[in-house]
Amino acid sequence: MKYFIKTYGCQMNVHESEKLAGMLVSLGYSETDTMADADVIVFNTCCIRDGCEQKVFGNLGNLKKLKKNNPNLITAICGCLTQAQGRKEMIKEKFPYVNIVFGTHNITEFKNYILEYRNKHKNIYDVWESEKPINEDVDMYRTSGNNAWVNIMYGCNNFCTYCIVPYVRGRERSRNPEDIIDEVKTLVKDGYSTITLLGQNVNSYGNDLNDENVNFANLLHSLCEIEGDFKIKFMTSHPKDLTDEVINEIANQDKLAKYIHLPVQSGSNNILKTMNRKYTKEQYLVLIDKIRTAMPNCALSTDIIVGFPGETEEDFMETYNLIEKVRYDGVFAFMYSPRTGTVAEKMENQVELKIKKERLSRLLAVKNEINEKQAKEMVGKTYEVLVESFENGTLYGSLDSGKTISFVGPENAVGEFLKVKVVSSRKSVVYGEIVDVQKANDAKPKNFKLPLEVSILPKDEKSMKLLRENKKNKKVQNDDKSRN
Ligand code: 5AD
Ligand code: SF4
Repeated sequence: MKYFIKTYGCQMNVHESEKLAGMLVSLGYSETDTMADADVIVFNTCCIRDGCEQKVFGNLGNLKKLKKNNPNLITAICGCLTQAQGRKEMIKEKFPYVNIVFGTHNITEFKNYILEYRNKHKNIYDVWESEKPINEDVDMYRTSGNNAWVNIMYGCNNFCTYCIVPYVRGRERSRNPEDIIDEVKTLVKDGYSTITLLGQNVNSYGNDLNDENVNFANLLHSLCEIEGDFKIKFMTSHPKDLTDEVINEIANQDKLAKYIHLPVQSGSNNILKTMNRKYTKEQYLVLIDKIRTAMPNCALSTDIIVGFPGETEEDFMETYNLIEKVRYDGVFAFMYSPRTGTVAEKMENQVELKIKKERLSRLLAVKNEINEKQAKEMVGKTYEVLVESFENGTLYGSLDSGKTISFVGPENAVGEFLKVKVVSSRKSVVYGEIVDVQKANDAKPKNFKLPLEVSILPKDEKSMKLLRENKKNKKVQNDDKSRN
């Protein structure tokens, strides 16, 4: 019996697919990379922008034919899209060949749904209205190489006016620190090199636990006390909640990657206000200053929305100027997409698509220009690199920021942290050579499960592809990891 999971969206979904996979594996299924071979197909979906939704609906249609060819096939859909208003009914009506429809709050019920469907052969539509206490009893089948994802909290309380997440993920719920620490200890023992903590806003971790000693800075501190050769990353940080204590922890702990993803969304105070972001451009820049003072080499990335309702050319230029000023290592820019039920959807001064497109391309142009310069400036410098994969004699590694670097080396070095010197750059792509040659040669081979399907690769697949294409002398655009 085989399963195929298609994951859309962010790292949270990638990790939740590992839980879905865990439940299927515990029922005796194994993974396949071909939909036509599968006995169970699951779509784990995203609805952050309309484009993400349309991608899912575009692919759902394929299930009809597959069901015809294999009447025993079980098809399921879950995630943010099914949790959004009215979608369950719509799927029931338009896609009756989808057998199991469930939401974000009842993901751990999936195993029961499969068993029930196998017994009764009757479609199941079960989307819970609201969140329940966290269920710690979950099977997991990790598929992200030597990186392990760890949820520290679920949900979001912020209600940024453009965002559907608080509606489809519910209120903030933090896991107990003991459970997180135990999980990380086991992962380190199992040999994972990177632990990435996940939450919609990790900086408000613990606010709901009513214990003054529990907060994000203290959690990071405790995790760094775990012995072993590993690094900790986290996402996402809301600027309004990033404390000095967290910045100090990152600066002082070797185990914390020197990288912060700190979405600004806009550089205009007017827009930040109508977005309900609860900080000003000036406050954000003070934060950037604090980070750079504490850690001059800390990598920074951001999310930007262009064309939010009411965004004028002046507002947009404030964002553009902010990007030039901060010189981020990564910019993930999106055109504003109205989401049903959010406050911004009802705003009257929506921006024309043509203008949104034009602003997006200007932003990407300046971002690429900055990243190319940064790549040039890296030449001659040495970085600590996590070796992620090996292909045709080339190792691909990542810096703290997630940026990819390629270099020649032995396959057994995959999973190892090595010092690598950047020797050349092309566009924003960098190439290096190993400084720790002995360490690379002596490394014990690690045996991690790599993802089967491109769409569930959490990061760097795009850059790996670009690097491969670059080797074939094709044009290289940029090297961002994918985000949503
Ligand atoms: N339209 C466009 N981008 C959005 N994001 C969230 N909601 C929307 C929307 N309605 C972006 C934000 C967020 C990232 C995950 O997705 O930039 O940080
Ligand atoms: Fe959405 Fe804002 Fe919550 Fe992030 S902080 S998930 S953008 S509402």
